[in-house]
Amino acid sequence: MIQPIQFTGEDRSNATRQTLAEKEPVALRTFTPSQAVLAKSAGAFHFTPEGRRLYDFSSGVLVANLGHNPRRWMQRFCGYMGWKPEHVAGGDASGYFEAITLSAYNAMTELESNAVERLLRNLQASPGGSRCEQVMWAASGSEAIQKALWACLHRDEDRDMIVATRHGFHGKKGLAGAVTGCETDSDRDPRVRFISFPMQECDDLSKGNDPFDPAPYRAELDALLREYGSRMNCLITEPYLGGGGSYHPPAAYHQMLQDWCRANDVVFILDEVQANFGRTGKMYAFEKYGIEPDIVCLGKGLGNGVPVSAAVGRADLMATLKYGEASDTWSANPLACAGVLATLDEFESENIIGQTARLNELFVNGLMRLKETGLISKVRGEGMVFGIECADVGGLSSHDVANRIVEACYLGNGDTGIHLLGPLAGNVIRVSPPMTMTQREATDSLNLLQSLLGDLAQKL
Ligand SMILES: Cc1ncc(COP(=O)(O)O)c(C=O)c1O
Repeated sequence: MIQPIQFTGEDRSNATRQTLAEKEPVALRTFTPSQAVLAKSAGAFHFTPEGRRLYDFSSGVLVANLGHNPRRWMQRFCGYMGWKPEHVAGGDASGYFEAITLSAYNAMTELESNAVERLLRNLQASPGGSRCEQVMWAASGSEAIQKALWACLHRDEDRDMIVATRHGFHGKKGLAGAVTGCETDSDRDPRVRFISFPMQECDDLSKGNDPFDPAPYRAELDALLREYGSRMNCLITEPYLGGGGSYHPPAAYHQMLQDWCRANDVVFILDEVQANFGRTGKMYAFEKYGIEPDIVCLGKGLGNGVPVSAAVGRADLMATLKYGEASDTWSANPLACAGVLATLDEFESENIIGQTARLNELFVNGLMRLKETGLISKVRGEGMVFGIECADVGGLSSHDVANRIVEACYLGNGDTGIHLLGPLAGNVIRVSPPMTMTQREATDSLNLLQSLLGDLAQKL
């Protein structure tokens, strides 16, 4: 057993860390030097069992776009489920109450038809969403990717080759794992080929307006076409490299990928599992990047915390799968549909995207200012999803500096800290707070971050 991290003065948190270290495989947990134990959450904050307050700079993992436990969202969610306070408070002698079923496997609910219609209407109303004709629900992001790729591979058994963009993250399971990373990772699926993603061109926000030449990237695609010809089936990419270290490419890159796909009858799949529902500053990233995917994969923020995902796209592609081929216990379960409906209600009735734009300005300025501490060398991002790349400092590698920052932010100034995920791609810290954070919370948390990094820099 790996000894769990323990912090002085955190008896309750330490007990939880100890139990989970003993009773669960370490593989279930990604490494973070804070191993934060969360007792409660509200809005932009988590609270530890010891009562310390942490600004949540992760939104779960880009899930709670609307903040944690938003009251109106919860009212709507309970309303869709038919849950009323009296159901749990009392009720009749039967011990049961009438509400929406929790599992409708091999059956249907009106909630599901409502959710599918509302989601399609929302996607189709967004520029670039015209190919969103049918919804194939799933329960996690990687399953949505798996189902999208199944649909493509079934359209013609002789067309078995998949193109993916290098250093993407699409999940760990099955075909989602096969299109993640790059060719040098072990156990590669022989059907997958990787092309370059423009990382150099967007490795710091200051490079935003530099001219971009898509020709070398198109040449890589043409080379694959020469090699595999009519075996080329589909291409999958992320709007920006998320898990790969927050690289947000010029729109011309994605537009070139799409043009090439259209010219060669290759299905264009956009993995928006972490980008959807406002993260990039638009409802969908395809709108931000001026593209129109054949299939878009949605997840995370789609249910604001209820596990739900979906591959949405061309009906002719979805039709390649027969009865049951994409079914499972949890896909389109009523909780998921209620979560999607409540989240759509919020986005359609509140100006979340406008608030994201206001927060973006504060965060770009606040994060760029961190470079003054010497601990941060690069800042990347858009909307409300950023990556701050750490520098080597003294004898410490940038990876170690990133971990020291995560720990220092967790410990904070005593009462208040900042919850960060463990570093991405070695040395990049994700900053993606809820998009409903107030401007005051944004300013205060950025000031706290600046002072914590300043103090840490003194010590290193
Ligand atoms: C872009 C992207 N695709 C797919 C996934 C996989 O989603 P899940 O962890 O829900 O399987 C993730 C998860 O981080 C992601 O960021």
